Amino acid sequence: MTADKILYNFSEIFSPNDKGRALRGKEMNEANLLKNGYIAIADGKILKVGEGEVPEELKSDKTELIDMKGKVAVPGLIDAHTHLVYGGSREHEFSKKLNGVSYLDILAQGGGILSTQKATRSASFEELYNKTEELLDHMMIHGVTTVEAKSGYGLTWDVEKRQMEVVKKLNEDLPIDLVSTFMAAHAIPEEYKEDPDKFIDIVIDMLPKVVEEDLAEFCDVFCEKGVFNAEQSKRLLKAAQEHGLRTRIHADEIESIGGSSVAAELHTTSAEHLMMITDEDIKKLSESGVIGNLLPGTTFSLMEDTYAPARKMLDNDMSITLTTDSNPGSCPTANLQFIMQLGCFMMKLTPVEVYNAVTINAAYSVNRGDSIGSFKEGKKADITVFDAPNLDYTIYFFATNLCSDVFKDGKHVIKDRQRI
Ligand code: NIG
Ligand code: FE
Repeated sequence: MTADKILYNFSEIFSPNDKGRALRGKEMNEANLLKNGYIAIADGKILKVGEGEVPEELKSDKTELIDMKGKVAVPGLIDAHTHLVYGGSREHEFSKKLNGVSYLDILAQGGGILSTQKATRSASFEELYNKTEELLDHMMIHGVTTVEAKSGYGLTWDVEKRQMEVVKKLNEDLPIDLVSTFMAAHAIPEEYKEDPDKFIDIVIDMLPKVVEEDLAEFCDVFCEKGVFNAEQSKRLLKAAQEHGLRTRIHADEIESIGGSSVAAELHTTSAEHLMMITDEDIKKLSESGVIGNLLPGTTFSLMEDTYAPARKMLDNDMSITLTTDSNPGSCPTANLQFIMQLGCFMMKLTPVEVYNAVTINAAYSVNRGDSIGSFKEGKKADITVFDAPNLDYTIYFFATNLCSDVFKDGKHVIKDRQRI
């Protein structure tokens, strides 16, 4: 078979070891780093990746050849945890944070998620669509080709549904893949403040509609002090699993109240945040094969000191990813590259561990391990290209967008840093 397109002359290609599952522990520091490499694409899929001269048998008269001299290629970056669709913004909380008011205190005063809830409820489908499209544009320009997107700023069926429909439509309209997560259990609405169990019942009643209307693949819950406890979180996620949804859980973000144990017990696909996870719970997640989705941008943006113990997790043979948590409160950013740099600078991960986290492991975290996340033949030709002499440089030269090109399903969608 010959290629439609061949990208050649890369200074370095990062090609993960594709074992058909998320990488764990030491495996995360292993990959193929190809010098003077090429990527051959046919029908929007990877045909072959290699080093040195491009074999003549891959070429035909119609093959488009693109010189990538001085550039680095990695599988399209995957952002496995975002709160993508929302109204308004929360820069007014910034001075409160600087003055030492905590995230949970702002929420308890009716701010935080509850203030975004008000702004989201009053936004129309079009307003939410346009605002989210802009955010996705930023993400694509920074090299992201797949994004997980949670609902959770409606807290009523109508608004949760609107958020998920925006995700569905944008997934159809844009050259970026979205994976939808239902997260109505993101905060306790004011009217159920005294009876969170009742609100969990209401969310459980929404599950059949989520499935029937094909609005989400995952269900998530915020298991945190002052939000939902471990028991309530478990009840919801169990019901979601019974309805055929995959599950994940915000756990141990600010306090450790048992969320990771729930993840291990229910074998959720992932557990999110984990800044305050106990050693015992690290072992449980490792044994149960739950992927840790780590979000260092949240620690950074909340001006906290504690990053999730990524090294300890790898020493315990866990699988991890790094993701933005992009949201208007605890991490207002669209730049996954900066989050990856925090992974190295603040969590002491190596560049190879970081790239495995946001490619092959993130693919499994969003249940797309069979189609994206590596350069295995037959996977989607989602390719992120950096203007950099080698992989390490893309981490070392931080907080600057080095992504020059993006190929999505083999199509050139970002060229010379612009959407085309
Ligand atoms: O993952 N922790 C809960 N949810 C988000 C924050 C959402 C918000 O503050 O709007 C998070 O950090
Ligand atoms: Fe989150």
